[in-house]
Amino acid sequence: MAPVNRRTFGSFVEHMGRCVYTGIYEPGHPSADEDGFRTDVLALARELGVTMIRYPGGNFVSGYRWEDGVGPREQRPRRRDLAWRSIETNEVGIDEFAKWAEKAGTEIMYAVNLGTRGVQEALDVHEYLNHPEGTALSERRRANGAEKPYGIKLWCLGNELDGPWQTGHKTAEEYGLLAASTARALKSAEPDLELVACGSSSSSMPTFGAWESTVLEHAYDVVEYVSCHAYYEEHDGDLGSFLASAVDMDHFVTSIVATADAVGARLKSTKKINLSFDEWNVWYLSRFQNAPLPSEWEVAPRVIEDRYNVADAVVVGNLLISLLRHSDRVTAACQAQLVNVIAPIMTEPGGPAWRQTIFHPFARTAALAKGDVLETRIDSPTYQTARYGEAALVDAVATHDATTGDVTVFVVNRDVTDPVEFTVDLSAFDQPLVVADSWTLTDDDVRATNTSDTPDRVTLRPTSDISTGAVTTEGRTVTLTLPRVS
Ligand code: AHR
Repeated sequence: MAPVNRRTFGSFVEHMGRCVYTGIYEPGHPSADEDGFRTDVLALARELGVTMIRYPGGNFVSGYRWEDGVGPREQRPRRRDLAWRSIETNEVGIDEFAKWAEKAGTEIMYAVNLGTRGVQEALDVHEYLNHPEGTALSERRRANGAEKPYGIKLWCLGNELDGPWQTGHKTAEEYGLLAASTARALKSAEPDLELVACGSSSSSMPTFGAWESTVLEHAYDVVEYVSCHAYYEEHDGDLGSFLASAVDMDHFVTSIVATADAVGARLKSTKKINLSFDEWNVWYLSRFQNAPLPSEWEVAPRVIEDRYNVADAVVVGNLLISLLRHSDRVTAACQAQLVNVIAPIMTEPGGPAWRQTIFHPFARTAALAKGDVLETRIDSPTYQTARYGEAALVDAVATHDATTGDVTVFVVNRDVTDPVEFTVDLSAFDQPLVVADSWTLTDDDVRATNTSDTPDRVTLRPTSDISTGAVTTEGRTVTLTLPRVS
C-alpha cells in the first residue's frame, strides 16, 4: 500500500508546435483573458485535474535561454528553436507561464537547460525564480511584476541528454558529472529543492539501464529522482500488443527501481531514489519519424497533433493504472503534453477547444484516485502478444480513501474481440457496500475519435447505459461485464 501522490497527475507544456501559442495562449481569441490566455483551455485543464506541469521542455529546453522570455515583450528576441525547427517569439516566458499555472491551479516542475548551458545558468534561473529579493536577478523578477518568489520545488536537470537528437547530447559520464555539480550548486542555494536527473529517453535506448547506473553513481546523494520517458503506439495494426503497453511500463518501472537500488547498495546508502515518469503517453512516433521536418522556419507550426481513438484512451487508462500501481516509487509523472501536441486538449486558432478521447480516463482517474493505492490481486485469463509476450486480459488497480471509506476500482479489458466478466471481491472491507457510480469508455468502433464537430462522440458513460449492462452486487462482491477494448 502506498499513498496516491497528487503529482502522479502531472502534465507537460513545452514550447513546441501549438502547445503554447494558440494552445494555452492566444490573445485575440474570443475566450482570451486580460493576459492573453484562452479561458476555454484553462477550464479544460482544470477539468482534466492536472496537478503539476513540466515546463518549458522537452527537447526545446536544451537550446533555450530563459532570460529571452522575461522583461518587456517588445524587447524579447526571436530565436531559432533547433529541436522543432521553428521560430520562438518568446512572447510567453516563465513569468507568463507562472501566471497561467496559478490560474490553472497547478504546481510547476521547471526544467533547466543542461544541453547548451551549465551550472551558472541553472543558478541564474533559480535566483530569478526562487530567491526572495535583494539580488540582481530576484530584483529583476520583482521589476518584471512578480514581487514574491515562485517557490518552485521540483526541478529537472536537463532533458533526454542520452539521446543523440538532443542539442548538447552527452555521454552518461559527462552528464552524470554535470548533473551532480548542478545539483550541488542548486542545493547550496536552496537545500530542500527536489531534483530530477535525466534517465533514459526510452527503454529501447541502447544505453537503457547503464545510463541510469552511471548517472546515479555520480549524482545519487544530491538528487531525489531519476526520470523515465515512454511513448506507445499501435504498430502494423497489432491492436493486441498495443493494448498491453502497460506491461512494458510496469517492466520499465521495476527495471529502473532495481537499477537505482543497486547503485544505492553499491554506495552503501539508505536513501531511495524515486522515479519521475515525466513523459508518458500514446504517440504515433513512427509517423512523425517518417515525415520530413518543415522546410520553412515558422512560428507555432502544427507538429505531432495526433488524433486519438477509443483504443488509445484504453491504453492511456491502463498506463495510469500502471503508474498508480507503482505509487511507492513513481512519485511524480507527466502526461506529455497538455494542448495540441500529443494532447488530451485540442484547439483551433480562433475556434473551439475540445476533449480528445484520452482526456476522459485521465480526468476521471485524477478525480477519483484518492487516499491509498491498495495491493490489488488480479486473477485474469491471459493472451499472447507479439511485442510483450503473455499478458493478462484484464488489468486493474484500486484506491481506498480512509476519510470517506470510498473504494475506487480502475480496470481495463484488453480483449480485442470479447467482453469479459469482472468480479471485485471486497471481503477485506467490513463497512456497508453501496456501488456509488460506475462509468465505462467504449464504442462499437474502436477507431472512433472526437473532432471539433463531434467533440463528445467518445466519452465515459454510465455503465448501466452500455450494451453489456449494469453493475450487480451480491454479498461483498461486485460484478459487471466489461466490453471488449474498454
Ligand atoms: O514530448 C515530445 C518530445 O518527446 C519531448 O520534447 C522530448 O523530451 C521527447 O523526446
